[in-house]
Amino acid sequence: MTTISADSPNAAALRTILHGRRAVRSYTSTAVDRETIDELIADAVSAPSAINRQPWAFAVFQGAALLDRFGREAAGHLEQLHAILTPEARARMAEPNAIFHGASTLVVICATSNDRQAAEDCCLAAENFMLAAHALGLGTCPIGSAREWLELPETRARLGLGALVPVFPIVVGYPAAVPPAPGRNAPVVLRPDVR
Ligand SMILES: Cc1cc2nc3c(=O)[nH]c(=O)nc-3n(C[C@H](O)[C@H](O)[C@H](O)COP(=O)(O)O)c2cc1C
Repeated sequence: MTTISADSPNAAALRTILHGRRAVRSYTSTAVDRETIDELIADAVSAPSAINRQPWAFAVFQGAALLDRFGREAAGHLEQLHAILTPEARARMAEPNAIFHGASTLVVICATSNDRQAAEDCCLAAENFMLAAHALGLGTCPIGSAREWLELPETRARLGLGALVPVFPIVVGYPAAVPPAPGRNAPVVLRPDVR
């Protein structure tokens, strides 16, 4: 039987990983090899899923030029979609690497169905992926800003996603810079006195 101990080496190591992961927005040009991505996907799928349905698929795109093109398309789509973007946001979108931050690997975690809870399952897999990457010294960043572009029927067709539902895009790479922790609000914790 496992004894619960707050100061066990496992708990300390896990906390170091949990608290040390950052959304990395600057990458070196070194590519992450395919085997490493496959290992991270193996870690991702150890996540729990409702009724163990495992309703996820991982679309992997690699290559700096490819991601640069995707990024320009996604930024263009965002600009079109949100005609009321503030001038600052518009200027940000015009910057090179505004969407994918100069990473050369994009993994889009997709739901294999619209079943209830498939999206939650994909998000749990995403967190595993990001933590496992961080444990290897890699950086990741969730890219919610690419979702609207990824959801376009023409993008899905061109990227070979078929009927998959893009849920959680993540870039991964070797960090050129890791930002400081943005901090967290004190959690709201309720302990209602219900009898
Ligand atoms: C669902 C989701 C979507 C996000 N989308 C983006 C994004 O499009 N671009 C980006 O740079 N960061 C994105 N982030 C990263 C957050 O900005 C980041 O996690 C947050 O500021 C906290 O920073 P930390 O992850 O370093 O703790 C996203 C995070 C989540 C969870």
